[in-house]
Amino acid sequence: MSREFTKVGVVGLGTMGAGIAEVFARNGIEVVAVEVDPDALERGQGFVTKSTGRAVSRGKLAQEDADALQARIRFTTEMSDCADCQLVVEAVPERIELKKAILTALDDIVADDAILATNTSSLPVTEIAVATKDPKRVVGMHFFNPAQVMQFVEVIKTVITADDVFADVKALADRLGKQPVVVGDKAGFIANALLFGYLNHAVSMYESKYASREDLDAAMRFGCGYPMGPLALLDLIGLDTAYEILDTMYKQGRDRLHAPSPIIKQMVSAGLTGRKSGRGFYTYAAPSSPEVV
Ligand code: 3HC
Repeated sequence: MSREFTKVGVVGLGTMGAGIAEVFARNGIEVVAVEVDPDALERGQGFVTKSTGRAVSRGKLAQEDADALQARIRFTTEMSDCADCQLVVEAVPERIELKKAILTALDDIVADDAILATNTSSLPVTEIAVATKDPKRVVGMHFFNPAQVMQFVEVIKTVITADDVFADVKALADRLGKQPVVVGDKAGFIANALLFGYLNHAVSMYESKYASREDLDAAMRFGCGYPMGPLALLDLIGLDTAYEILDTMYKQGRDRLHAPSPIIKQMVSAGLTGRKSGRGFYTYAAPSSPEVV
């Protein structure tokens, strides 16, 4: 019998985690939203408030539904509050040891039949899974930024993921109004494997002063109909996240397309991580994440 998801946990309330928590809550699911650091918890809560406010002002959500959505999310610094969740999605930064530590801790907190999911963009889900006591219940559930808006989820099935686990997660993604695809455990899965070579190429064109940032972005927006140009998109994704994704893909595939352009690392070191810090390839009035422009 398939699982009925009435309560889920989200660990990590950065750009992605806050958006993912909002998506679950918008679809009538109780959410336990966890950040161990109280300041980050407050920031994450602020992201959700701002985003739902925007959804109301855009006519996507009635005020009473926005209030109900917010009431469905319990913000906490305690991971143990996920004890009765049927699914927990981790959305912490792209560091494998951190992700393993979170899933291993959750292993002892949730029920035996609960599912543990990672929102990793490129790290090996199998490696994260085998750090837990029961790798069969670990799956990748990869949302796209901004999670509240993008209608796509990659469900990553490892060689050891149980069939019922990935089938239930896929059905859940459907229920959330997302188009799910099932993909194997290869760095970048489908979308990032295709996207990041292009983004990295745009950065190297910018770095070599081949074209200005505005012209590079205009080429893809107006010439190819993309909703955003590559440098603006990198600012949205976050240059720190982009660097980690490229680096992981490069180490796994050794494709030069994915060798991170040096300026990405330099900008990350300088704190120019994109919208989340207020400055990346472009400058923003105020740090804004995961808000849509
Ligand atoms: N909840 C629900 N809907 C919302 C919302 C919210 N909080 N905020 C905005 N929206 C809706 C708006 O009402 C609008 O809907 P409409 O088209 O029906 O009117 C739509 O979302 C777009 O919002 P905006 O008009 O405010 O913004 P733009 O039209 O400028 O679009 C964008 C912004 C959606 C970010 C668009 O530029 C875009 O699609 N960019 C590309 C994003 C992308 O490629 N993401 C993937 C990145 S890769 C990734 O995430 C993988 C990871 O591993 C790194």
